[in-house]
Amino acid sequence: MERRRVPYQKILFVCVNQREPHETCCAHRESEAIAAALKARIKALGLSRWVRVSKSGCQDLCAKGPNVMLFPGDLWYHGVTPDDVEQIVQDTVRGLSLPDPSPAASLWSPTG
Ligand code: FES
Repeated sequence: MERRRVPYQKILFVCVNQREPHETCCAHRESEAIAAALKARIKALGLSRWVRVSKSGCQDLCAKGPNVMLFPGDLWYHGVTPDDVEQIVQDTVRGLSLPDPSPAASLWSPTG
């Protein structure tokens, strides 16, 4: 086993669990597209070194999905749609320790 420090300051876990066609799950509600949009936006902002978007298994709140967890940050988003991606990114960027100037500087304000 190798052990090292996690290089990311924040991690977004997007549930992409897929159940049977007649069952409720995040994958049936665009969660793959949400994960892709989050990843693309984080990359476009040049934040991939500090923020990881990771697909997760079931977060055990299937009826409320799609679900996204932000760590650290203690935020758990439910009923996420692609239109919510920007708000989640803004919440994620808040509090990051980034080099100055950062491509994400316009999204982040210490009081925001
Ligand atoms: S399928 Fe996403 S929380 Fe269960």
